[in-house]
Amino acid sequence: MRLLITGGAGFIGSHYVDLRLKRYPRDLVVVLDKLTYAGNPANLAGARRNQCFKFIKGDICEARTVERIIRKYRIEVIVNFAAETHVDRSILSPEDFARTDVLGTQTLLGAVRKNKIKRFLQISTDEVYGSIERGAFRETNDLKPSSPYSASKAGGDLQVLAYRHTYDLPVLIARSSNNFGPRQYPEKLIPLFVTNALTDQALPLYGDGLNTRDWLYVEDNCLGLDCILEKGVFGEVYNLGAGNTRNNLEITHTILKLLKKSIGLIKRVPDRLGHDRRYALNTRKIRDLGWQPVWPFAKALKDTVEWYQAHPEWWQPLKSGEYMKYYRQQYHERHKGK
Ligand code: NAD
Ligand code: TYD
Repeated sequence: MRLLITGGAGFIGSHYVDLRLKRYPRDLVVVLDKLTYAGNPANLAGARRNQCFKFIKGDICEARTVERIIRKYRIEVIVNFAAETHVDRSILSPEDFARTDVLGTQTLLGAVRKNKIKRFLQISTDEVYGSIERGAFRETNDLKPSSPYSASKAGGDLQVLAYRHTYDLPVLIARSSNNFGPRQYPEKLIPLFVTNALTDQALPLYGDGLNTRDWLYVEDNCLGLDCILEKGVFGEVYNLGAGNTRNNLEITHTILKLLKKSIGLIKRVPDRLGHDRRYALNTRKIRDLGWQPVWPFAKALKDTVEWYQAHPEWWQPLKSGEYMKYYRQQYHERHKGK
């Protein structure tokens, strides 16, 4: 198969590239990535050694770029990971989110239609359903996104479903829960807290710390995405989660314990604006396709912590970079006087 993987220099996309190259050695894998602050060529170091891998720097919002790549490499399948992905950042500056997550998705759908692409997988998120106090969301639940990030992802999903309905395109949607693992940008909870703890910096825990997420190890997520791409029914949505629901305080304590650091590093900070309380997914549909998570949560979290411990050369330049400085400054501005 000849695949175009957009956003493949980011966290999950790069793991999926590695999986594809290993599992299907005859595939051609072409990555299109804009290399925003979150895209990192180092994430594709392994893939670059493979002759079946190509990298192109570019924007999914540019139809001509997408078109040129599809023609040149005779692309048959597109998997769209490209997105702006951080909720806090979407609260500070939402514009890029609507552009990439909605219009970028629409641009790709236009290319799917024009070039008779055989399969298109949209990588979405459980956040499009919004928060749920009890129980778990099914794929048929209404979308009630509550952050500019999740609203943009919901916009992308609606475009995908509308293109299915109107043009009968061969599309699939995966809605994954919170991922964690090696190579996640150190702005998200787990890599931020691990790398802060490693450098004896405070861990900024929002609000009461009891917000709950369903944590999914990135390798399990990629296996699930591959299952959907290979066996999913066109036009269908598949939830993807492991059922590892933990609140942020539990995650924080586990990280500190694994690193043998003091709980005195925890710093309570004002809550995120509009902070979703709890996410939970019903995953019966993907389990019926034959997928189930294989990583025990405790082992996956321990391995993840050890990966950051062993790879300071990966995260240190990101933590000291301009983006993090800008972000920290904006964050403190927002909470000044609260
Ligand atoms: P990430 O932020 O690590 O990577 C995003 C990648 O997209 C980066 O390499 C970036 O350079 C690229 N990109 C951004 N805008 C682009 C554009 N206009 N054109 C081309 N490339 C562009 O994100 P991630 O955590 O790997 O998430 C990947 C996908 O999975 C996203 O669609 C996200 O919404 C979804 N998702 C993530 C999680 C999670 O916990 N991380 C959970 C569920 C769903
Ligand atoms: P995050 O990793 O940003 O993922 P998402 O908001 O998309 O679920 O955050 C996970 C949880 O951790 C969320 O409830 C917010 C919380 N959090 C903190 O308490 N402090 C932080 O510095 C960050 C980044 C997140």
